[in-house]
Amino acid sequence: MFLVRLVYASRVSDSLSTDDVAQILEHSRSNNRSNDISGLLCFNHEYFLQCLEGSRARVNALYQRILSDTRHQDILLLSYGEITERNFGRWSMGYIPASSIIRETTMRFSGKSEFNPYEMTGDSAHALLAELARNTPTLE
Ligand SMILES: Cc1cc2nc3c(=O)[nH]c(=O)nc-3n(C[C@H](O)[C@H](O)[C@H](O)COP(=O)(O)O)c2cc1C
Repeated sequence: MFLVRLVYASRVSDSLSTDDVAQILEHSRSNNRSNDISGLLCFNHEYFLQCLEGSRARVNALYQRILSDTRHQDILLLSYGEITERNFGRWSMGYIPASSIIRETTMRFSGKSEFNPYEMTGDSAHALLAELARNTPTLE
């Protein structure tokens, strides 16, 4: 079982309703727990940034489902690779809401103070998620 990490960005689609994010999280946590997938989802009402960690086969299968989900669009793979250990193993899917996305932190990891994962490298996006997770008291 090879352990991998995948980070992608996406943009909300018109079909995303306010209840959708809560439903996505609830369903994701239950599915990911069954599949030993861990990760974080960051959302600021416009963009999603998600990191998935787990076995290569399971992360790839999940990413294919995520690619065909019409609740978001313009899905861009920021990084993918084998890892030796998980960074977000505590969370079946930790959530970082808009209120926790602090300007100083986005400034530190990108060229702009507004959160826009399309403007970030895969390494910066991953480092931003790790920093936001450190500073967000409750992720689940
Ligand atoms: C931004 C976003 C993130 C998602 N993250 C996950 C996830 O971590 N795990 C998951 O199972 N589904 C996730 N989904 C939902 C999947 O796209 C898909 O609807 C779901 O996996 C289907 O599950 P099912 O086969 O149990 O019906 C996500 C969807 C969106 C839009």
